[in-house]
Amino acid sequence: MEERNASEGIGRGFRKAILVNEHFVVYGVPAIAVPIFSPVEVTAVVRQGAGLQVSVPARSGGDGRAEEDRDRLEAVRRIVRTIGLSERERMIRIRCVDDLPGWSGLGSSAGFCVALVRALFMALNRPCTDEEVNRIAYEGEKVFAANPSGIDNTVATYGSPLWFERGGSPAWEWVRPGLPLWLVIGNSRMPCRTRDEVAKVARFRRARPDLFAGLLRDAAALGRDARRALEEGDAAGLGSLMNQGHSMLKRLGVSNERLDEMVAACRLHGALGAKLTGGGGGGCMLALAADASSGAAVVSGLKRLGHPAICVHLPLSGGRLRARDTS
Ligand code: PMV
Repeated sequence: MEERNASEGIGRGFRKAILVNEHFVVYGVPAIAVPIFSPVEVTAVVRQGAGLQVSVPARSGGDGRAEEDRDRLEAVRRIVRTIGLSERERMIRIRCVDDLPGWSGLGSSAGFCVALVRALFMALNRPCTDEEVNRIAYEGEKVFAANPSGIDNTVATYGSPLWFERGGSPAWEWVRPGLPLWLVIGNSRMPCRTRDEVAKVARFRRARPDLFAGLLRDAAALGRDARRALEEGDAAGLGSLMNQGHSMLKRLGVSNERLDEMVAACRLHGALGAKLTGGGGGGCMLALAADASSGAAVVSGLKRLGHPAICVHLPLSGGRLRARDTS
């Protein structure tokens, strides 16, 4: 029998949306992120033999598929090595199920790395702590992002809203929202190449050091204000800070016409605030709505422009954003 001596594990890792301060977080400015309840799922089968197979379902909405597949394979190799496995001594089969293919900028690569680490530990019947999962997933995330801040893998591991500060002590803290969040995520249908956008920001920093330093200071203040607004339940204040966040990301050069148009459409349809989310240059944008019906209005505004959109809900008690409309 082919699967003789095989052991199987299944793991999940959350996607995320960054409320404020993507990119600035790479340079040590705190950012706030929330998990999206649509985890990436990985199944790992480890058995006698040798070799490594990685399969993902057909993806849509990206033209960088070959590069993405190469990165994924390399990330798997790195994670497999980090946990002390060898594809020369075991046959390792990895299968990934991604129910939001083509929605980039939502931390899918980190969700994948976390899901993979959990799946492998389960297949090996070895216990592991969340801290260990997060640390090992970060090694895989480095393949996709070159200089990742660590925010994506941390949200993907813990699955809760958090305040993240690279190099901080502690690096992250739970955040408990003081209001139920209704967030609309719109897909620009353009791929987000996080690595390229992070490199673009690094060039901006070299070319305009003073301007960049000023933006970092503004982002630090914006992050603190956004945390206060979130915890105190000030939806209008949070929305306005998200708008400011988008302007700052535009100044860094990581937005584009399509994202700006989507952000404007969300505001027009009643969003309290809107911005790009994640790496930018394409990928997804995020809008804050006052309630479910306002969220639905923003979703239909985006769909009328031809953009897939979903409204996700984070209850007052925190936890995970649940998709309300994935049509
Ligand atoms: O594009 P995503 O989902 O990988 O998000 C990237 C977030 C950045 O702040 C741009 C990079 C990072 O490592 O924090």
